[in-house]
Amino acid sequence: MNQRILVTGGAGYVGSHLVAALLDRGESVTVLDNLLTGHREAVPAGVALIVADLNDGAAIDAVLSDGHWDAVFHFASLSQVGESMRMPLRYLQDNAGNGIRLIDGCVRHGVERFVLSSTAALFNLDSDAPIPEDAPIDPQSAYGDSKWMIERALRWAGQVHGLRSACLRYFNAAGADPAGRLGEDHRPESHLIPLVIDAALGRRAALDVYGDDYNTADGTCIRDYVHVSDLASAHLLALDALREASVVWNLGNGAGHSVKQVIASVERVSALKVPYRIVGRRAGDAGVLVASSVRAQQAGWRPVHGDLDDIVSTAFAWRQAHPNGYGG
Ligand SMILES: NC(=O)c1ccc[n+]([C@@H]2O[C@H](COP(=O)([O-])OP(=O)(O)OC[C@H]3O[C@@H](n4cnc5c(N)ncnc54)[C@H](O)[C@@H]3O)[C@@H](O)[C@H]2O)c1
Repeated sequence: MNQRILVTGGAGYVGSHLVAALLDRGESVTVLDNLLTGHREAVPAGVALIVADLNDGAAIDAVLSDGHWDAVFHFASLSQVGESMRMPLRYLQDNAGNGIRLIDGCVRHGVERFVLSSTAALFNLDSDAPIPEDAPIDPQSAYGDSKWMIERALRWAGQVHGLRSACLRYFNAAGADPAGRLGEDHRPESHLIPLVIDAALGRRAALDVYGDDYNTADGTCIRDYVHVSDLASAHLLALDALREASVVWNLGNGAGHSVKQVIASVERVSALKVPYRIVGRRAGDAGVLVASSVRAQQAGWRPVHGDLDDIVSTAFAWRQAHPNGYGG
């Protein structure tokens, strides 16, 4: 196809998997990343890496004015809910401020398609029913609110300037490239599956499980784990859908798994024991968060790694091959 695509945050976990999928499809990709939480090694040889911060308006203008871009994918952001409650203004400035600056640049430089990494943290629901896109928006963190601000900016940019956008609200991204090229390496790690794997491998002390008194079958929280390569395929589909119109999609498996089910899966896949202890609930944690991804499925999205053991085994294989992550 060979479209010219800019990926902000393409050195990070989800972004790097999308870059690989774009390359596999024959697109021409440039990554813009400040390497704050991303890794140079996650950007394949042959992909131009521009090391720049999105708060640098001149740098963004220079990139966007350098020829025609068919689309921009925007992954770059701070993304820790807990941290955002300690530094709400930094999150609003970095995420919402940078996001709106990038959208403005796209409008001024004639980019027609924009894909945003949004989040389930827009919702404040605790229900067994899968959450559809039109569920009430009520972010409970500065992180979630910063993404909602970008979604609203995209709505105005569409209405007034004709920029078409895809707001893709991921639930819990998980797993690693099945071909072993890429994996998850957040420092510090805050995501459950890599934490459970490291506990199994003896690379950290016992895992803290935040509460076992939720209204779920085993009392622990239930989340919707969606494989990072399935997320990448949804992005490709969104890129094509944007030739016609803007979209808003929730992206998850539609099947939740509890913390104890994740622990059991890691034990099955690794044949190791996971040491863990139950501690108190964490403020703000909902009992159940599961996506309804009907819209994306109606557009043709078919996740192929829906099985939890499949997701965990790709994550485990990458961690075993890269015990110290990238650069290790
Ligand atoms: N991982 C998940 O489960 C999940 C769930 C919902 C939404 N998201 C969203 O998906 C996106 C990617 O998440 P991830 O887990 O890959 O995170 P990540 O931290 O691995 O990747 C983010 C990337 O953005 C870069 N970056 C951050 N701030 C920047 C800035 N100001 N300028 C330039 N580059 C910057 C980082 O260096 C990193 O490479 C984020 O927007 C996140 O909010 C992730």
